[in-house]
Amino acid sequence: MADLVLRSVSVRRGRARLLTSVDLTIRSGGLTALIGPSGSGKSTLLAVALGVLPADDGVVTLGGAPVAQAGPLGWVPQQDALHPSLRVRDELRYAAELRMPDADDDARERRVNEVLQQVGLSERARVRIGSLSGGQRRRVGVAMELLVRPALLALDEPTSGLDPALEASTMELLRDVARGGLPVVVTTHAMRSLGLCRSVVVLVGGYVTYDGPAAQAAAWFGAADLDGLFEKLGAASPEAWGARWKARR
Ligand SMILES: Nc1ncnc2c1ncn2[C@@H]1O[C@H](COP(=O)(O)OP(=O)(O)O)[C@@H](O)[C@H]1O
Ligand SMILES: [Mg+2]
Repeated sequence: MADLVLRSVSVRRGRARLLTSVDLTIRSGGLTALIGPSGSGKSTLLAVALGVLPADDGVVTLGGAPVAQAGPLGWVPQQDALHPSLRVRDELRYAAELRMPDADDDARERRVNEVLQQVGLSERARVRIGSLSGGQRRRVGVAMELLVRPALLALDEPTSGLDPALEASTMELLRDVARGGLPVVVTTHAMRSLGLCRSVVVLVGGYVTYDGPAAQAAAWFGAADLDGLFEKLGAASPEAWGARWKARR
């Protein structure tokens, strides 16, 4: 069980500070949600966590080693690169050929069947990607990443555009994947489903301003409920919220 740890991570672009001194532990075995207003740095944080974007300051480790040396990591971007005309199983087979070059055909086929089952798509394996519902298509994206048993799974807005029921079932799937023993981190606006998360991280203007159970997040910002949380953020600067979080006891 390897946790992802960010220590004093900052990212700048010219004079813009995209992330400022982020200290964060994203634990394995549970689902972590990253929430915050548009432009608060959520996607940037995922990119740093995956080692895709180098931090200007600070370090990112997975299980104590630099994340760049951690082996395969799973990344589900906001815009998937799936092929609408392919059947689900064939898309996964092609991905397996590319990503599991040392495995033989039988081993690849077994793994494809395992991930199909894991994401609940065994019955849809013969359907073309273009005919899937939005929620099922997200599941294919997750399955593609699970093929190589990643040490970390990060997803950018996997619930966007889904209705509330699909939103909840997607978050439940990710929680179940996390229970397999890896850290799963997801940026989301799915406020109703945050109770499924081990931890909710609130990012404001590139500062971590809260990290803990969903049940206590609203109160930390003086909001009545999670839906009212973002309205409260204007009461102080991002820097002040960040300082308040770091000074907590
Ligand atoms: N390459 C870049 N150069 C300058 N600013 C950027 C760059 N990428 C992102 N930003 C800015 O950084 C901030 C955080 O972006 P992002 O991580 O995409 O936020 P979020 O995912 O929370 O919407 C935004 O204000 C965005 O405009
Ligand atoms: Mg984003």
